[in-house]
Amino acid sequence: MKLPELSPAFKKAQSFISSREAEFRERLFEFLRFPSVSSDSRRRGDVARCAEWVRKRMREAGLKVELVPTEGHPIVYGERPGRPGGPALLVYGHYDVQPADPSKEPWRQDPFEPVVESGSVVARGASDDKGQVLALLCGIRAALEAGLGEDLHLKVLIEGEEEVGSQSLMPFVSREKERLRAEAVVIADSTQFAAGLPAITYGLRGILCLEIIVRGPKKDLHSGSYGGAVANPAMVLARMVAACHAPFGKVAIPGFYDKVRPLDDQEREEIRKLPFSDREFQEEVGAPKLWGEEGYSVLERRWARPTFEVNGLVSGHTGEGMKTVLPAEARAKISMRLVPDQDPEEIGRLASEYIQSLAPASAAVEVKLHHGARPVLVRCDTGAVRAAMEAIAVGFGREPVFVREGGSIPVVNTFKEALGTDSILIGLGLPDDGAHGPNEKFSLDDFRRGMVTMAALIEKLGKTGEGH
Ligand code: BES
Ligand code: ZN
Repeated sequence: MKLPELSPAFKKAQSFISSREAEFRERLFEFLRFPSVSSDSRRRGDVARCAEWVRKRMREAGLKVELVPTEGHPIVYGERPGRPGGPALLVYGHYDVQPADPSKEPWRQDPFEPVVESGSVVARGASDDKGQVLALLCGIRAALEAGLGEDLHLKVLIEGEEEVGSQSLMPFVSREKERLRAEAVVIADSTQFAAGLPAITYGLRGILCLEIIVRGPKKDLHSGSYGGAVANPAMVLARMVAACHAPFGKVAIPGFYDKVRPLDDQEREEIRKLPFSDREFQEEVGAPKLWGEEGYSVLERRWARPTFEVNGLVSGHTGEGMKTVLPAEARAKISMRLVPDQDPEEIGRLASEYIQSLAPASAAVEVKLHHGARPVLVRCDTGAVRAAMEAIAVGFGREPVFVREGGSIPVVNTFKEALGTDSILIGLGLPDDGAHGPNEKFSLDDFRRGMVTMAALIEKLGKTGEGH
């Protein structure tokens, strides 16, 4: 693709972005200082203050904004009307973040006190999703200052519960579907395929989270006095969890694969053509050897095959040294990634039944179902996607590749079902940004490219009314 000509108004937006570089960076730092961890009830006030801050930035961008309280965390919604009968663009993102718990590799600094290292800002939420959200908001501000896309109705929806399943957002979208109606939805909550190789994501896996709780004796016991005569809940749990995997990297839950749509040859060929090296991937993750479902490539395993993963395992003595104890309880936090056409509710049922069937008489097993989200595939052959490709070419200097991703964004399916609109997932982050892990980062160059891309997209959608 030839790089498109830039209009004088667009150049004005670009120089607005360049002239405000220091200010936007300072804003990003402010945003990252809120510990807006949606899963942590002690952070409720911080999450609310972060929502208030987002509202101010949206106002500053030129939108009329409201803060919508929910049973969970507030939704921030803003609009800028365009020409009557003009096209509408809905922009979505989230201001909540994952916990910043210490893990094997600890943070080099306070996760909520951002620092710049080698051109990237390091903090929890830098890439997922605060940096990406703020890039879009700054891009909108620049576009509106420069008078771009005046025909376009702009609608911006930033929520605070994405990382916990978007449970309050779903009813909001269904309730407000007239107001939210749009020809296109744009989301920046994914990654480029590689540094300098931007991507549009056309598929996301779904998810179903559950917890297994195994209860044995009424309290922790001396493992010498009682061991051998009382079943150990940690052992019971370990056997049950292990029985959820089958040979050849498969999941053992009966019926788990029944609705899985096989990959067609053409898509497999497209995936094969992407520049990807197993060796570099192994280096990136640092595992001794790669592992996965037999008969599928690494990208196919991550994007288009379902999984059963342990996210957390707790039982007995986890502190320093040894303690000879027979624990009263053991817990596992599990998530399963789902692919079209698996249904989270059905998978939850199948998984619970199977896990219960594994329970021995010597322990009580509870399966607690948590949130879920459907997998999605979106169309790539629309005018809005073409406009996004061109906008990315302006922002990143090259055309995007089309990819699927293994992560989940629950509301993408809701937008499709309630509004009838497919989302365009523009990834501003990098695959090694470390989302959900320690020392999460976001490149300041990508921050700026994201702003330019957003401004370019507004111009393209506003001028042509493409996307219908
Ligand atoms: N940004 C991610 C989703 C994502 C991850 C997209 C990787 C593309 C590549 C999002 O914020 C996220 O992490 N979602 C959760 C949702 C879940 C908790 C319901 C996820 O996928 O674990
Ligand atoms: Zn995210």
